Amino acid sequence: MNLNDQPYMAKKVSDSVYWVGAVDWDIDEFHGYLTPRGTTYNAFLILADKVTLVDTVKKPYLPEMLSRIRSVIDPKQIDVFVSNHAEMDHSGCIPEVLEQVSPTVAYASQKGVEALDEHFGVSDTFTAVQTGDKADLGNMSLTFVETRMIHWPDSMVSYLDSDGVLFSQDAFGMHLATNHIFADENSRDIMLWEVEKYYANIVLPYSKQVDKVLKSLPTLNLDIRMIAPDHGPIWRTPEDIAWILGLYQRFVEQKPTPKAVVVFDTMWHSTEKLAKAIAEGLRLGGVEVKVFNMNQAHRSDVATEVMNAGALLVGSSTLNSGVLPTIADMLTYLRGLKPANLIGAVFGSYGWNRKAIPELHTYVEEMGIDLVADDVTCKYVPKEDTLMAARRTGETVAAELLKRCAGE
Ligand code: FEO
Repeated sequence: MNLNDQPYMAKKVSDSVYWVGAVDWDIDEFHGYLTPRGTTYNAFLILADKVTLVDTVKKPYLPEMLSRIRSVIDPKQIDVFVSNHAEMDHSGCIPEVLEQVSPTVAYASQKGVEALDEHFGVSDTFTAVQTGDKADLGNMSLTFVETRMIHWPDSMVSYLDSDGVLFSQDAFGMHLATNHIFADENSRDIMLWEVEKYYANIVLPYSKQVDKVLKSLPTLNLDIRMIAPDHGPIWRTPEDIAWILGLYQRFVEQKPTPKAVVVFDTMWHSTEKLAKAIAEGLRLGGVEVKVFNMNQAHRSDVATEVMNAGALLVGSSTLNSGVLPTIADMLTYLRGLKPANLIGAVFGSYGWNRKAIPELHTYVEEMGIDLVADDVTCKYVPKEDTLMAARRTGETVAAELLKRCAGE
């Protein structure tokens, strides 16, 4: 095979593993989550006695993946196929891959087999595996570990014993299009934000399951020398592996931090004035503050900041006997992500009824946010005394937050 004939080339990851995925520079939205830095769909080729493909790519990127595979071997030489996760950014081209590659055996979890069948009608092709099962690849083996709900019920990870590679599908990933497939080749600050954003917007609701997996990993006696997720860079150094596992531990715990997020939308700047006075009180109270006007901010950035915060203060003008649409959007999204251990307060201006306030209460109470200060409201335009009350609300929330951070 003439490698120069291939538009796309595989990239060596370890002694036996090649990256054969695709870079999506264009995607900027993932069902409600802004991804301005694009993403990668990682697929991996294992050159074992039984050549193995782990996961595939989003359907439009099938030619790119096949080209990368062809730069190493003829795709028809693939004996074993593993689907760690049935969501279509990893499975969308499975029917075409099965047809063109014809592996001898294909593995997925039981839920994976069901999900792939429901998507593509391919259950006859797959063998269901569960935690602890191994695939014999001849001179090496893959061990499967189910990771249900990280990110779907079918999700599992696969561990290659010879090279110590954990193929972790969505877990430990991020949406970052990059030419540099290893984490140590990328900006730490950008990766930190993108890992946080990914966890906050995709994994956060399943933190209990993540906690279970983090606790179970050491008991499985896997010598993990590399973590290769299905999105973003691969963690290959001991420092990076410890870094990403440590971050996940922090995300799971969601301990309160001395940081508050103030979110609002406003009709004629009155709720904005309350928000800014509250933010000033929070600042004077000694906590870091982030303020988001939902007319400009995006829900997925707010979710990321909220995951890292200890307090959420939400304000809305009353519009048509309820909250402003941007606030309903943001709170509906955030409620589904289930951020934990938050305190907060609500605020807003009104004209002839103040019905945004009870609606805000309903949202934040459903989210389990502990309201630790009185509501701040004003009719039409806040006067000096209301702005001072708003500032005091900020100070009250800050004082309570600092106590909770100190474990009091
Ligand atoms: Fe990257 Fe849950 O799919």
